[in-house]
Amino acid sequence: MVDKEKDEMVVTPWEVKGKVDYERLIKEFGTQPITEELLQKIAKHTDKLHLQLRRQLFFSHRDLDVLLNLYDKGIKFVLYTGRGPSGPVHIGHLIPWIFTKHLQEKFKTRIYFQMTDDEKFLVEDELKLEQTRKFGRENALDLIALGFEPEDTFIIFDVEDIDLLYDISLEVAKRITYSTAKATFGFQDSTNIGWIFWPAIQAVPCFIHAKLTGENVPALIPAAIDQDPYWRVTRDIAQKLGYYKPAQIHCRLLPGLGGGGKMSSSEPETTIFTTDKSEAVKRKIWNAFTGGKETAAEQKKIGAEPNICTIFQYYYFLFEERDEKLSEREKKCRNGEILCGECKMDLAERVNGFLAEHQKRREKARNIVEKFHIKR
Ligand code: TRP
Repeated sequence: MVDKEKDEMVVTPWEVKGKVDYERLIKEFGTQPITEELLQKIAKHTDKLHLQLRRQLFFSHRDLDVLLNLYDKGIKFVLYTGRGPSGPVHIGHLIPWIFTKHLQEKFKTRIYFQMTDDEKFLVEDELKLEQTRKFGRENALDLIALGFEPEDTFIIFDVEDIDLLYDISLEVAKRITYSTAKATFGFQDSTNIGWIFWPAIQAVPCFIHAKLTGENVPALIPAAIDQDPYWRVTRDIAQKLGYYKPAQIHCRLLPGLGGGGKMSSSEPETTIFTTDKSEAVKRKIWNAFTGGKETAAEQKKIGAEPNICTIFQYYYFLFEERDEKLSEREKKCRNGEILCGECKMDLAERVNGFLAEHQKRREKARNIVEKFHIKR
């Protein structure tokens, strides 16, 4: 866990607090920044660089260069990502999934998606197992709505599919000591023993492809940086089990509309859920924290601050694809030519347009979930 004294940043798989300093995370977690050279290497396979790479949403990695070198030599890889179903899905969750889908398309790879209904049951005091399992099923609809390839997408619902995971999780667990787990995850004497074992389960999809197909290939994990502790322990034991170390590509956390931290389901008024009605979206965006000034007159005179504005972040992360339009908006904001009301209304319209489509596809997904459910 990160020292709380220094400006209150806390980033663990179960808690994200304060202003997140990504440069510092690269240092403290010991990951690699994504360099220009690496971007070029990726672009060789994907044509144009994806927005999320161009704008450094994905900003750090482990062994992505190694993975791409293997790929050039003919060794394929699989993708692996997941979700802790502790509540409904919000727009922040969709961001790495959208990128993962892009990678699936460009590299024509299989993806394993772990729905950790077991983890959320163990970790969240107030959640019952039947609730996390239900959220898992509902959250899968959001994933499917993004258009993943059914032939190549394997969702694992942990509780239901534990028979597939159990043998590898034992191999993993046997090789991680309590002292390593404690140092990595900050376990306490009061931590329940299910939680202490649990990281072994999150390691399994890194290796499951070999068991299912007989093909031993590395996994690439696109995920928010807060998941990194899991991969540190997994990487340590991978080769002992005869597998490749999994590679990672890490993204930032989308801040809530209140500013700071990450968008979180526990703060519903600053979080846009995928099932929100258009009125709720308008209200939440209207009340968002911006970089604007007290009065319109002042803002017209001295301009506003897009760098601290949560609304601008939404354009940046997802809702303005066109780089020229984005910098135009930024410039206009800085010199007071555009006021917050206009930016908010424009954003609300885009978010609602996106959600209307998403919600339709999400409902249709109900009939086809089983196509995506991992097969034996
Ligand atoms: N632990 C993650 C969460 O709470 C869920 C998860 C499982 C995951 N496997 C993953 C996330 C792989 C990213 C990549 O959200």
